[in-house]
Amino acid sequence: MSFVPIDDLLKDAETHGYAVGAFNCNNMEIVQAIVQAAEIEKSPVILQASQGAIKYAGINFIVAMAREAASSVKIPVALHLDHGTGFDQILWCIRSGFSSVMIDGSKLPLEENIALTRKVIECAYPLGLSVEAELGKIGGTEDDITVSEKEATFTDPEEARYFVEKTQVGSLAVAIGTAHGQYRGEPKLDFERLKKIRSLVKVPIVLHGSSGVPDDAIAEAISLGVRKVNIDTNIREAFVMAARSILDNNPREIDPRKMLGPAREAAIEIIREKIRLFGSSGKA
Ligand code: G3H
Ligand code: 13P
Ligand code: ZN
Repeated sequence: MSFVPIDDLLKDAETHGYAVGAFNCNNMEIVQAIVQAAEIEKSPVILQASQGAIKYAGINFIVAMAREAASSVKIPVALHLDHGTGFDQILWCIRSGFSSVMIDGSKLPLEENIALTRKVIECAYPLGLSVEAELGKIGGTEDDITVSEKEATFTDPEEARYFVEKTQVGSLAVAIGTAHGQYRGEPKLDFERLKKIRSLVKVPIVLHGSSGVPDDAIAEAISLGVRKVNIDTNIREAFVMAARSILDNNPREIDPRKMLGPAREAAIEIIREKIRLFGSSGKA
């Protein structure tokens, strides 16, 4: 079974008003957890690998694990590059069998971001891959900046309209108040900005940094047009906490399976909760 381009999944999400979960994977147990959780929930799912994941596991291992996991289930599975920044890396992903890529030119000036996104699209679209781009800067929670400095990095709605028109990108990641990693306080999302972006941009909107965002805020973002929700940190937390508790309770345990098995179960639970929250259960 081959991977599905994310645009196909996001189109159905758009028609029926839900969001598809995009979950980051770095190792076999997490790949299995993502696909098994989606299969139990009868939900489409996006497996995504960051540059860090590719560096850690190797691109061939990521693709082989994802392929094996996808072929063991009936639901549609996409394999997506998360936050790709270089053109050569995009080509490696295309060659290796990814069904979709993100080109993150958000640190570049607007016209350079447009040019890079276009260059990726020219390669990806004829081969049937989807492309996600980013406009505005989704930082990390560790970034030490004030609220007004942060707001200055949010996506400008008019710029988003121009960007999509110029690039014809398939989906757009926006900065509306979320950040990658664990939040220090409660994140406040700029829903007015999201509404404005939505009124000007017709492609599906992607929410990054979604771990730790309260459920009601995620639900509201989905009701306002978010169709892909990225989750990494919440899986890491569940996975590591479960593994740690095994080790804390059994300091002499030396069988990795006794630690990684329960960690995989914990990851399945949190991913199932997210899938239900996003409204994609039963949509496969
Ligand atoms: O968007 C960032 C993801 O959480 C990936 O993080 O670069 O540590 O793999 P990573
Ligand atoms: P979190 O780690 O904050 O869930 O963000 C994930 C993400 O946006 C991946 O691109
Ligand atoms: Zn992200």
